[in-house]
This record gives sequence, structure tokens and C-alpha cells, in this order.
Amino acid sequence: MVKGIDWKNLGFGYTKTDYRYVSNFKDGKWNGGELIQDDLVHISECACVLQYAQTCFEGLKAYRTKENKIVCFRPDLNAERMMASAARLEMPQFPKERFLDAVKQVVKANIDWVPPYGSGASLYIRPFMFGSDAIMGVKPATEYQFRIIVSPVGPYFKGGMKPIVLRIPDFDRAAPLGTGHVKAGLNYAMSLHAIVDAHKQGFNENLYLDSGTRTKIEETGGANIIFVTKDNTVVTPKSNTILPSITRRSLMYVAEHYLGLKVEEREVYLEELSDFKECALCGTAAVLSPVGKINDHGKEILIPSGMEKTGEITQKLYNTLTGIQKGNIEAPKGWIFPIS
Ligand code: PLP
Ligand code: COI
Repeated sequence: MVKGIDWKNLGFGYTKTDYRYVSNFKDGKWNGGELIQDDLVHISECACVLQYAQTCFEGLKAYRTKENKIVCFRPDLNAERMMASAARLEMPQFPKERFLDAVKQVVKANIDWVPPYGSGASLYIRPFMFGSDAIMGVKPATEYQFRIIVSPVGPYFKGGMKPIVLRIPDFDRAAPLGTGHVKAGLNYAMSLHAIVDAHKQGFNENLYLDSGTRTKIEETGGANIIFVTKDNTVVTPKSNTILPSITRRSLMYVAEHYLGLKVEEREVYLEELSDFKECALCGTAAVLSPVGKINDHGKEILIPSGMEKTGEITQKLYNTLTGIQKGNIEAPKGWIFPIS
């Protein structure tokens, strides 16, 4: 029985569900892993994650299709990205096959929490890993926990497809040779002050520049960005310091192969923003969220699609991507991972 939740009004928040998947790493190996009901984590007060933020995470979603099947979207890419994050943070890698099996187990165990087809909500899956034993000198932990929790969620930005406003912050997200390309908890810790400040000033999100030159567009705190030119080319920033978004990589494929559009992954300069006719954030949580305005230190860059409606290309991309994710449009081979 699907849970009786007011799905239409569900925001992007944490709801405790029945089961979580846990596997512990000790003496150089991962144990077998299990589903548990305890939502509390018991670790040393001196755990490496608490002292030195040794943690990385992932985010993906499970959807209910029209035929009432449960599917995930490209979880193999989340498994691979988490392995890259772990390597960069000197953590042991959780094997891809085990990651996929764990996703399947934890979604199946919480199947009643997967929102109904057509509700606008989905089941957010959050795999994460942290250094769990006591470390005082600055060095990696020797023991780790890999855990997957799930939570039903609605839109990341209140109002769903209502255009949002970004601002160019006076804070940087990622150093040129830092950790911007992996999903390290520390990238998000340092963005908290910037997002609280952005909200105080009335903006929805921060649009970070490259910290090396502060002239190029990177991404926001929790999503990549795409633009549409006046001649309908879909453009996205190329950078070594942004997270390689699975949604963005999929959208660029959809734009080219499903919609027949020209696509470009290239450096995008702050100075060119006023040349674009559409702009949107993309990510698992954000899906495709239209941007109406970008504020650069008081100078407003108005995106021609405006604050009232979604641009035509953005809407087509949204419809095609979500159609693929929910099983209504045929997916490229390997994109849909059946759970049940
Ligand atoms: N960029 C950042 C900083 C993110 O946190 C996320 C979310 O995962 C994304 C981009 C989007 O990535 P994906 O499409 O793989 O969810
Ligand atoms: C996601 O889209 O999965 C994210 O991780 C973004 C944000 C919630 C941190």
C-alpha cells in the first residue's frame, strides 16, 4: 500500500522511511551489508567525518511508471561517480555491482514510499559514505560506513517549473585543483553561508564563477546549468571544477539525439549571459528548473523567456527527459534500471 502522503504539496525534505542499507568497512574489506531499521548512526566522537569532513554522497531517484513498475535512472553512473569521489577523498571504493544491488534492496524494502505515478513526487535515494573511526592527526580513517537512505520528495525549488532567480556570489565553490568535480560533503559545507546569504537577499541560488579567473560560469550549489542560444543551440559550461551531472549529460544527449538540436559543451563567460534566450538548472533534485533572471552585483540579466513561463526548448527537454525517466518515451539502452 502506497503511503498516504499529500504528494502534491511535498517539498524536497527528509522523511524517515522504514529501512536503510548499511555496509561497514573494517580490516581492509566491506562486510556483506544489510537492511536495518535504526535511523541513528553510532560512531566515535572523534570519527574522521566529524573532525575532518571525510564524507561523500550521491543522489538519484526511483520513479513509479504508468504500469506501476519501479525504475531508477542511470544508477551505474552514480556508482561510478561515487567511486571517483571516494578515491579523491582517500576512502575505499564501494564496488559498482554492490552499489546497484544495494539500491535495489533499499528501494524494494521501502516500496510503499515510492510516490504514485503522476503525483509529481519521486523517491530520492541518498547513498553516502563516511570515515567512522577515531582519527586525531590529519589522515584518512581506517573504518568506513556506506549507507543508503531514501525519502519521498517533491520539487527542489518551491513552485516546480516557476522560473527562479540566481545571483553571482562573492564566494567561490571550488579551487582550480580542488574537489569541485567530486561529490564531497565539504563542497556543500562551504556553500551553506553563501546560500543562506543568497536567500536573505531574496535569490533562489548562487551561480558560481570559476575561482581561478572569476570570468566563467560554473554551476550552482546543487545543480549544473544549461543555456539556449537564439538559434536554438544548447550550451553547457565545460570545466574541470564542476560536478559531472548525470542529468546534464543525459539532457545534452536528449537535445542532440531526440530533439535534433546542436549542442556545445564549452567555456561560457559571464559576459555572454545576455546573449542567451533560455537558461535552466539541471540535476537529480532540480530536474530542469527554468531561470528567469541572474543578478550580477545589482545588474539584472533578464533571460528573454522571463519570470512567468518556461522557455520552449527547456520545456521540450523537460518533457523528453522526464518521459524517458518515467518510461513513457523509449530510453537509450541501459538508461533505465528496473527495480520491480
Ligand atoms: N552539481 C552539484 C553541485 C550537485 O550537487 C548536483 C546534484 O547531484 C548536480 C550538479 C547534478 O548532478 P546529477 O544530475 O548527477 O544529480
Ligand atoms: C542531487 O540533485 O541529487 C543533489 O545532490 C543536489 C542537492 C540536493 C545537494
